[in-house]
Amino acid sequence: MISTIDMTREQLENLLESALRFKRREDVSKPLAGKSVALVFFNPSLRTRASMQVGIYELGGNAVVLEPGGTSWTLEHRVGAVMDSDKTEHVAEFVRVLERYCVAIGVRTFAALKDWQEERRDPVLDAFAKYASVPLINLESAMHHPCQSLADMMTIREKLGTGRKRVVLTWAWHPKPLPMAVPNSFALAAAQMGHDLVIAHPSGYDLDDELIETSLQAARAAGGSVEITNDIDAAFTGAEVIYAKSWGSKQFYGNPEQDLATRAQYRSKWIVDEEKMSRTNNAIFMHCLPVRRNVIVTDGVIDSTASVVIDEAENRLHMQKAILARLLGG
Ligand code: CP
Repeated sequence: MISTIDMTREQLENLLESALRFKRREDVSKPLAGKSVALVFFNPSLRTRASMQVGIYELGGNAVVLEPGGTSWTLEHRVGAVMDSDKTEHVAEFVRVLERYCVAIGVRTFAALKDWQEERRDPVLDAFAKYASVPLINLESAMHHPCQSLADMMTIREKLGTGRKRVVLTWAWHPKPLPMAVPNSFALAAAQMGHDLVIAHPSGYDLDDELIETSLQAARAAGGSVEITNDIDAAFTGAEVIYAKSWGSKQFYGNPEQDLATRAQYRSKWIVDEEKMSRTNNAIFMHCLPVRRNVIVTDGVIDSTASVVIDEAENRLHMQKAILARLLGG
């Protein structure tokens, strides 16, 4: 489970149905009884860590949580590295030892936002995949966050029913550049589900070209569409879903000061507020969380009845149980 790229519409629908069955408590199976799953966190987390641990427990299993450089050794991932600096263990041993104990490995490894061409290839997750013979679950990498995007698709289905919706992914100003995993995965999954996806961002904040091309093809195949605009006002008009997220510009990876100087002009305009929401088609407001209030979204919107962010976070639990049951339920 690296991303949803290779998943068919039928597989996506099956996961949504399975997650909804877990949520309704129609499925109380324990496919992980007697099994352990490793969860490796290079970065902080609330939702992913808590929902994975609880989900594994509810499926009858045991979670082994490791934080390289904290509760486990610092990790090197580069092939051929001469490890005479700060890295104690190589992913080559780490993964192959861990899979002697655990039936799957989940990994969180954010982009460092230093080198776009390198990070867009997801080098750390790729190193885990190279050595793993057990299922690998992406808990947010440099480029993808499939557990989040699948929970997002579940939330849209739950709140608005089946059928294509006008789904707007909008960039928002934030006081530092952030990775693109969430917007990438959301765009891809919304396209795969056949929604009419609008991606709104200021000029220069484009998502990955290959990801956009894949999303365009997926949307065409699923009967939906993808539109990209720099006009936030036009994007909000008629929207049924507003999904807010900030991300850094590809051109400024390794140069955060220039990104911050460039984005300063967008602070007052690129925020989700009551005025913009009033021009939607009674849109729900979504965000993966954590969110900076009155920066990404106003209190008035996130505390309104339009906001579904808490249900969205809850759905991480049910969707991840569906993913774990599918991968490991054998
Ligand atoms: N949305 C999300 O992945 O939250 P955490 O970073 O808290 O896990």
